[in-house]
Amino acid sequence: MRLSGRRALVTGAGSGLGQEISRAWAREGAAVLCTDLNPETASKTAARIVEEGGVGAAMGMDVAKDCDIEAAVASCVQQFGGIDLVLNAAGIVRYQPILETTRESFHQTIDVNLFGSFFVAQAAARRMVLQGTGGAIINIASIAGRHGAGMALQYSASKAAVINVTQSLAQALICHGINVNAIAPGYMQTAMWDQIKRNYAGGLLGVTGEDIDLNICATIAAGRLGVPSDLCEAAIFLAGDGARYVVGQTLNIDGGVEFN
Ligand SMILES: NC(=O)c1ccc[n+]([C@@H]2O[C@H](COP(=O)([O-])OP(=O)(O)OC[C@H]3O[C@@H](n4cnc5c(N)ncnc54)[C@H](O)[C@@H]3O)[C@@H](O)[C@H]2O)c1
Repeated sequence: MRLSGRRALVTGAGSGLGQEISRAWAREGAAVLCTDLNPETASKTAARIVEEGGVGAAMGMDVAKDCDIEAAVASCVQQFGGIDLVLNAAGIVRYQPILETTRESFHQTIDVNLFGSFFVAQAAARRMVLQGTGGAIINIASIAGRHGAGMALQYSASKAAVINVTQSLAQALICHGINVNAIAPGYMQTAMWDQIKRNYAGGLLGVTGEDIDLNICATIAAGRLGVPSDLCEAAIFLAGDGARYVVGQTLNIDGGVEFN
């Protein structure tokens, strides 16, 4: 097992990519504290990990609240004896025409996607530095952060900033043996993707969810949407010893999306 003895904190662990990577890390021997805004879904992921023979625990956590972040790091330390790995998977997407984008909605997206990722990383890194044993932090960015998105400006901007913050964190923390990297997924079949399709199909463009899947697949060289398990090997690699000299990178995992 490649992550034996590691103690992990995962945000957004109740669904989609966070859930899948929590289970993958646990299969590789990590003890995983599954956190989510929705404590019930976090508990379900932890229960699944335990059913599968791993070590999992759960708690509710809003990444936009400093007190929740502190409590989650403290809980990881209390339950597992420390913290070695972080996956920042919590995220939200808002689709709004640019001419209707509000300060409030923009702020909310930045608060969760950017500030959430940074302050979770910071709180965990403080503990890792105290431990003196290094660690790994992996942020989930998005290919939307590589280019603009006419209908999701705030999301795209937040993910571009996550890519940049990953570089800064990596440069600052590698001297403590903490390596920080990111994964930029493409179009992944999760609850978030369903929400995006509902928003589009709900009248913004007047198309159905199936139309959207077909149109998107036509832009993906691999010819299909991604599934959460497509990210697992990369997340295990970036968390493991083999990635010690991989610093501040963001790996696109998107099946070869062609941008126009
Ligand atoms: N699905 C995609 O196509 C796709 C593509 C690129 C990047 N991403 C990113 O991957 C990450 C995971 O997304 P997903 O597709 O698994 O979506 P998802 O909706 O299935 O899961 C996101 C999880 O984050 C949680 N969450 C939302 N706000 C939170 C908060 N304030 N505090 C804590 N948890 C919160 C939700 O409860 C949910 O369980 C996100 O950062 C998303 O932006 C997704």
